[in-house]
Amino acid sequence: MSHPPIKKSLLLSLSKREYHYAQDLPSKPDPSIGKVLVTGASGYIGGRLIPELLSRGYRVRIMVRGETPAYRELWPSVEVVSADALNVFDLRKALDGIDTAYYLIHSLLLGKREFEAADIQAAINFREAAEEKGVRRIIYLGGLGDTSKKLSSHLRNRMRVAEELRQGSVPVTILRAAIIIGSGSASYEIIKYVVKRLPLVPVPKWALNRCQPIAVRDVVKYLVGVLETPQTAGRSFDIGGADVLSYEDMLRTLAEVLHRKRFFIRTPISHIGFYSYNASFLTPIPAAITNSLMEGIKNEVICQDDSIKDYLPFEPLNYREALIGALTREEQDNVRTSWFSAYPPAHELSIKLHELDPGPQYTAHYSILSRKESWRLFTSVCKIGGKEGWFTHNWMWWLRGWMDRALLGVGTSRGRRSQSTLKPSDVIDFWRIEELKQDMRLLLRAEMKLPGKAWLEFNIKPEDGGNRLSIIAYYFTESLFGRIYWYIFLPFHHFIFSDLIKQIEKRS
Ligand SMILES: NC(=O)c1ccc[n+]([C@@H]2O[C@H](COP(=O)([O-])OP(=O)(O)OC[C@H]3O[C@@H](n4cnc5c(N)ncnc54)[C@H](OP(=O)(O)O)[C@@H]3O)[C@@H](O)[C@H]2O)c1
Repeated sequence: MSHPPIKKSLLLSLSKREYHYAQDLPSKPDPSIGKVLVTGASGYIGGRLIPELLSRGYRVRIMVRGETPAYRELWPSVEVVSADALNVFDLRKALDGIDTAYYLIHSLLLGKREFEAADIQAAINFREAAEEKGVRRIIYLGGLGDTSKKLSSHLRNRMRVAEELRQGSVPVTILRAAIIIGSGSASYEIIKYVVKRLPLVPVPKWALNRCQPIAVRDVVKYLVGVLETPQTAGRSFDIGGADVLSYEDMLRTLAEVLHRKRFFIRTPISHIGFYSYNASFLTPIPAAITNSLMEGIKNEVICQDDSIKDYLPFEPLNYREALIGALTREEQDNVRTSWFSAYPPAHELSIKLHELDPGPQYTAHYSILSRKESWRLFTSVCKIGGKEGWFTHNWMWWLRGWMDRALLGVGTSRGRRSQSTLKPSDVIDFWRIEELKQDMRLLLRAEMKLPGKAWLEFNIKPEDGGNRLSIIAYYFTESLFGRIYWYIFLPFHHFIFSDLIKQIEKRS
């Protein structure tokens, strides 16, 4: 099959490590725009939008719930405000002195039962606080769908959020997008894992429904473009890529791009719950997300109008180009944000080790004295997890990951954002980095399902002219089952960590 040539602008940007999506936008940076607030800054879209705004000279404040030094390291010129949209006082602080606010808040990870109410309340609070603080504009990225049809609860929720935001006096620009394709996007990851892992791909009848996927770079371009186009204030626009495709077409195109021979088989089973549960096993995406996203497949999600082109007349990428962009960024180990960038739903998980009071009841310490320099040892520590695995007894880590998946946890399959670099808050399989002190300490917080809280510390301290490399497991529990769990796993810890520490030293 012949395809139109890939756009030059895409090829050019893929050849650079540092690049900006909005470089070729028809709109121009507007210095009269005051401070811009980006909510959902820890999320997939927020993390991609911020560098674009900064590169165009805007003053940016970001709103996050879990503040970590990582944000200042990533974007030194941004102002960071810690706020929860469910707390009106927090919101007033976040919106004080703001000209335009991006609303990118979404609580999908809370699961189907809880996210709807939380998202609506957050939108109501935001609208009221924005009015009170005299915000000039709100820009919201929501979901695409035909409101005259029965929509999935996820799409209905995205529409309701738009309606709530619009009820106030602050003009809201609404951008409605279907599936977003880009490295690290949840929908793209589901499609990719299905194609990579299944030689026989089932095609239920809803896989013939049509959708208009859009590349993440085009979403970010529209988000920046509407900010710079005042005529778009108070209006709603559908944004989509160049193709309208069925879900089957999307899977077939990816198989073709990946050069994988796949057989597509029509199946009479069409229960979405069945497929979404299986997708959560097959892919790294937790069931809370696969359920909500796949429920939306029942609806055709196609742009109803293209009036956005009157204001921002650029040619969006087609689906194939969006895939090539995503796959190339993965190959280059240059994925900026991922669906798992957002914090886990149970925010209590983000209690820091040093904040635990009383401290962890259980610790297990393993160490080795090495003659090697601290930077060598630390570089070796920082390679753990993801594609490299855990250096030794990988099958045990893998088994623990599968136990977690069976309990609908995150498992190990999230891997790492990048195999070569780590920053605070990054994910390493079922861990998240709580602290990273170059050549000294890497502290990981467990995000797998556990009857308690757990941390794993890698520590390097000078000793006797060499360096002592330690691994310390910390555990805190309040339940009897939690205590039993610790003692069941203790012998395995001994086995795994004693060998892991030797491997780290050997590979450094
Ligand atoms: N990604 C897609 O494929 C896609 C497709 C179409 C439309 N969209 C729309 O684009 C928007 C952004 O999506 P996304 O993919 O970037 O979402 P995401 O990665 O899940 O991020 C959601 C963000 O919302 C924040 N958040 C949740 N509850 C909050 C609260 N109570 N207070 C403050 N912040 C809160 C999260 O912060 P924490 O870190 O604190 O949890 C996170 O930063 C959404 O409206 C979504 O519907 C996305």
